[in-house]
Formats: sequence, structure tokens, C-alpha cells
Amino acid sequence: MKGLILSGGKGTRLYPLTYTNAKQLIPVANKPVLVRVIDSIRDAGVEEIGVVIGQTGPQIREVLGDGSKWGVKLTYIPQESPDGLAHAVKISRDFLGDERFVMFLGDNVIQGGIGQLISDFAHSDWNSQIVLKEVENPSSYGVAKLRPDGSIEQLIEKPKNPPSNLALVGIYMFDPTIWEAVNSIKPSWRGELEITDAIQWLIDAGRSVYPHVHKGWWIDTGKPNDMLEANSLVLEELTPTISPEATIENSQVDRRVTVERGAKIINSTVRGPTIIGENTVIENSYVGPFTSIYYNVRVTNCEIERSIVLENSSLSDLGARVQDSLIGRYVSLQHSDEKPKTLKMNVGDHSSVSVV
Ligand code: G1P
Repeated sequence: MKGLILSGGKGTRLYPLTYTNAKQLIPVANKPVLVRVIDSIRDAGVEEIGVVIGQTGPQIREVLGDGSKWGVKLTYIPQESPDGLAHAVKISRDFLGDERFVMFLGDNVIQGGIGQLISDFAHSDWNSQIVLKEVENPSSYGVAKLRPDGSIEQLIEKPKNPPSNLALVGIYMFDPTIWEAVNSIKPSWRGELEITDAIQWLIDAGRSVYPHVHKGWWIDTGKPNDMLEANSLVLEELTPTISPEATIENSQVDRRVTVERGAKIINSTVRGPTIIGENTVIENSYVGPFTSIYYNVRVTNCEIERSIVLENSSLSDLGARVQDSLIGRYVSLQHSDEKPKTLKMNVGDHSSVSVV
């Protein structure tokens, strides 16, 4: 089997972070979501992976390289314009050949990996396997209507009146019958070739599409709160480790905290689940649960909780606790004693700041 990761898209719902960074490269528990996707495909035994890239392709290539760092072989497949998931499959034909493959959206995080799903599919004669998950807001996704015997009656992309609460998770498995499907469908109302329509085509053509209903958590990391939620869920499952090359002085660091190489925690309290990245310094501060602080960050005289801070940023002397926040790269947040007492901001487009 081969793997196909779709990693295009602009990530507009994560502006301003995604003005300068591909959304799939934003870390969850200090590891980019895209690397988590690669890990789970590799752990399921698939090592040859195609990565469909769009505008942010150069950044993705720079981070992932040839994949050898993660024990996989990557082939990049540029998609000139964002014409839909089924279009991304179409342009991957040469790479995939006539093999069965698993396709994974590069911004999805799923609990428990996909080893069992891949093995079920590999040992079956199904033409396709899809993954479904009960959600509260099905209209934001592709939705499946099942028959009483559990087989699929209909799949609809982002329906106004969803026939069920079962959303299509961004993980799909196909055999070569998908080629006729993607070549037969027409663009949807949003002008894209929808993978949902291609799978509906398979169903209408009498092919076997098996629906697996996923019981664990699934997060589509499209919006800031989804990132924070994914971060919390992944941190809860992390096996905490403290690097021997980290320094902890006069601090309380509980058992659920991971501290990476070269990090320093001085006169501080850190409560897990939390991760402190490489060469980050936490001084005279409180870092509370569900926080991921990436590398080369400085936190001084601050309190922070349930947040993500990206690399090379600094937070100092803030009067209130930072919570539920997503802070980008090279950001500097500090207190000032200057008069007049004003808020002085240099905030990028689409930023959002709440002050007390
Ligand atoms: C895509 C699919 C949709 C699926 C979702 C999962 O939506 O079209 O069927 O439920 O991914 O993340 P999009 O991210 O293009 O809005």
C-alpha cells in the first residue's frame, strides 16, 4: 500500500499564523500536525508516501525533506490550484499507479493511529474504506447517511440539513476503482472536485465502500480553538520525559510535564500535561496544564495556561494570566511602565487580542 497526504490549502481560518506558516506545520504538543500524520502512516506499515502541496509547498519541503528523518520515502506532488480533494487524487495517478492507498488530510489528528484500519482494508476485498465520527456540527463536513444494516446510503458534502451526525473524517482508503470515479465526477457548487462525490460515485456504481465509525477523538485542526483542543488531547497522551540536558532549579515540575533538551526552568511552577521545548527558558513563572511552549521561547514573570506558544517568542511581566491563546513566532509580549498608561500594539492582520 502507498500513502497520500494532502497538504495544500491556505489555512485562512488560522490567520494570522498561516500568513507565514503552512497550517499543517503548526505544532500540537511541539510536533507539527503533518509530522504526526506521517508518523501514523509509517506506524501502520506504509513507507512510500506522496505529499500533495500547494502555495506553501516550499516550507513543507524544507521541514520534511526526503522523509528519511521519519523513516519514510516522500514524493512531492504540486497542485497548481486548490481544485479539491478528488483533484489532488487525480494528479497523483503517476505516483500511486494501480496500488491500493490510504489518503490522509494533513491537518487531521486522530486518536489511536490507523494501524487497525489499514490492516482491515488490506485484508478485505472492499473497494474503499471511509472513517466516520459522530460530531455536533455535521454541516461543516461531508456527512454519511447509513442504512439500518450499517451500509452507506448516501454521502453529502457540507449539507444544510444533515441527514445524520456522522462526519467524514479526513482518512480514506481506496483501490484502483477510484480512478474511474475521480474522472467521472463534475465540480461541486464550490467549484471543487469533491472526494465525497467520488465516493458517492463508487457507491452508485455498486462498489463496496465500508464505513468505519471511529470511537476515539478526532480533530480537524482548522480553527484556533481546534488547535488548542487537539493540543490538550495529545498532551494528555504524551508519556512525560525530562531530558537529562534540561535544567530545573528551585522549581516545582509535576510528573506530567515533558521538558526538552536545553530547556531551563528556574523559580517556577509547571503543572502538566505540558511540554516545554528545546532551549526554552521559564523563569519566575507559572505554566499551567495543556500548554505547549515550542523552542527558544522565554517566559519571565508570567502565568500561562492552555495555550500554544510557537518558537522564538518572549513573554514577560504580563499582569494577567495568559489563557486559551495561540501565540505565533517571534512574538514579544511585555509589560511597560511608561506613562501615559496605554496599550501599545503592533498586531498583524486578522489578529485578535482580548485585554482585561
Ligand atoms: C474536507 C472534506 C470533508 C471532510 C473534511 C474532514 O473538508 O471535503 O468531507 O469531512 O475534509 O476534515 P474541507 O477541509 O475541504 O472543508
